[in-house]
Amino acid sequence: MPETSTTADFSSGIAADRVPAHVAFIMDGNGRWAKARGLNRFEGHLRGVKTVMQVVENSFRFGIKTVTLYAFSTENQTRPAEEVSALMKLLKTFIGEYLPELLKNQIRLRVIGDLSWLPEDAANSVREAVSKTENFSGHTLVVALNYSARDEVLRAVSSYAEAVAAGTLPSGKPDWATFSRYLDTDGISDPDLIVRTSGELRLSNFLLLQAAYSEFYFCDTLWPDFSENDLRKALADYASRERRFGKTGEQIGNKKSV
Ligand code: FPP
Repeated sequence: MPETSTTADFSSGIAADRVPAHVAFIMDGNGRWAKARGLNRFEGHLRGVKTVMQVVENSFRFGIKTVTLYAFSTENQTRPAEEVSALMKLLKTFIGEYLPELLKNQIRLRVIGDLSWLPEDAANSVREAVSKTENFSGHTLVVALNYSARDEVLRAVSSYAEAVAAGTLPSGKPDWATFSRYLDTDGISDPDLIVRTSGELRLSNFLLLQAAYSEFYFCDTLWPDFSENDLRKALADYASRERRFGKTGEQIGNKKSV
């Protein structure tokens, strides 16, 4: 750890320059949490929303600037209709109840994914919250809704090709900076750390391109049980890693590898 590091925050215990700027969460295990208690899956999602609020609050308190939540994947559309409908209602309620909090704490809400599939009322409440918070810049909450990385790429390629056909972009191989402006994550930094709960070790079509140099942290805790302490453990683990971005240890100034 650098000798000049300062403590980021009152309670995370992690040096400020070792706190990831952007953490993305694959919130998994709501169903198993409910099943273990003899409850229906919806109760797990309901409890999962409480965890969402706690994790967002603690993340920003610990110095993280951007938090992304994988709330609903395009593949989740194939779940039983009553679960999908309950999740959409929960989303609308969450946005309605959480908007005052976003405004009070000056948190910008961004959404990635294809909102056109969402029920009109849910999509409208999301759009309203996105628009009312669009001028905030300190902290950003990104919610992935009806999102999958492959769908995002296909939509980006399609928009890019339209721009080429219209003559607003040159034909030929694009550079990454230009192409990535067509992704849903335009203007959002790549996640430094991706956390997946519930013991599953996969990405499930989440931010496949943006995760090129992300660090991964997997834990067994089911999402509804994911606590402030679990978040601290993830951040401590991240803080101990050496990120090289394809360079050698010497190039990034790691004294141990010199
Ligand atoms: C995965 O658990 C969770 C989901 C597919 C939905 C995540 C949704 C929430 C946490 C609540 C809504 C979020 C917001 C932001 C309003 P699972 O159902 O796959 O659990 P399992 O693998 O144990 O069955």
